[in-house]
Amino acid sequence: MTFARSVVVRHEQINTQLARFPSSRYMGSKHAILPFIYEIVKEQEFSTVLDACSGSGAVSYLFKSMGKAVTSNDFLRSCFHTAQACIANSSEHLTQDDIECILAPHPAANDFIAQTFRGLYFTDEENVLLDNAATHIMGMTSPFKQSLALAALIRACLRRRPRGIFTYTGIRYDDGRRDLQISLEQHFREAAILFNQAVFDNGQINKACNSDIFQLPAQQFDLVYVDPPYVSPHSDNDYTRRYHFVEGLARYWQGLEIQEKTQTKKFRRLPSSFDNKKSIYQAFHRLFAQFQDSIIVVSYSSNGIPSKDEMLDILAQYKHNVTIHECDHRYSFGTHGHKLSNEQNIVKEFLFVGR
Ligand SMILES: C[S@@+](CC[C@H](N)C(=O)[O-])C[C@H]1O[C@@H](n2cnc3c(N)ncnc32)[C@H](O)[C@@H]1O
Repeated sequence: MTFARSVVVRHEQINTQLARFPSSRYMGSKHAILPFIYEIVKEQEFSTVLDACSGSGAVSYLFKSMGKAVTSNDFLRSCFHTAQACIANSSEHLTQDDIECILAPHPAANDFIAQTFRGLYFTDEENVLLDNAATHIMGMTSPFKQSLALAALIRACLRRRPRGIFTYTGIRYDDGRRDLQISLEQHFREAAILFNQAVFDNGQINKACNSDIFQLPAQQFDLVYVDPPYVSPHSDNDYTRRYHFVEGLARYWQGLEIQEKTQTKKFRRLPSSFDNKKSIYQAFHRLFAQFQDSIIVVSYSSNGIPSKDEMLDILAQYKHNVTIHECDHRYSFGTHGHKLSNEQNIVKEFLFVGR
């Protein structure tokens, strides 16, 4: 009885904490199905966990809220900064002075954005603000504050953009939504508050990594959560194409090769073994072999490649006991089959648990 009561209280605490996570429309985000994931992972015994492809960071945040020692990894620098800000960081916040400083002119500001992206995504003034803010942020000495600031700046750019993507150009669009009416500066201010509110200490040492999953230094985790991009017959899974501007911003385009002939000025796609039909099967084999000694939890959508049966077959080669759980989920546009009918946005979400 007492035990049951303490479990209820714990669930409420987790829910309260989860409500502080800045939700986003990141492609493939599992934010909307966190309760489903929670119901399954709470039955597993584990203290350390790797979120191998963390994306928006929502699942890492769930694990952190559950009191686990979390390592959050994604090969995109933009995702890494969100994880560093909300998962690895347990105590640092942006002060009002930090926010004002980031928004003020910098005496030696770069002008890469103003020069390269003029007229493409934001107004001239907003481009100058971004160049100034990025220069200030690069000079910050605390890595956690730097990530908080970058995560907020990235969120501001995504919210200010219709549909939150950078696959098309043009700045004159307004469907009346508040997000498109308020300034980039205001978006940054609001995002900074949101990210500050998301910071908490769960009593563990949590980490954020920015690595291709196959390059992560060997380390033992009790549980590994796997949610890579799946090849889909209905839409591409190209994160670079959608998010090149904010990924570029997170790196200030250092080491990135802009494809000058493209209208969007995107940079060359960052290669991943999960990119195409040919390499994806081998990638899952490699991944499951790499984490064979951990409980492996895999998120999977019904319209993905490999098929559900193929996924079961691959995972069963590495784990003796595999269970499959499912729930219905409707993705927003920009993820699964958005160019086709709405019906194809409704997918079954599966969670494979291999023990
Ligand atoms: C489906 S999303 C993950 C969504 C995440 N679970 C969430 O709730 O937001 C897939 C992520 O895998 C990352 N990714 C793709 N290939 C990768 C690789 N080889 N190593 C690490 N991350 C990779 C992408 O950058 C993307 O953020």
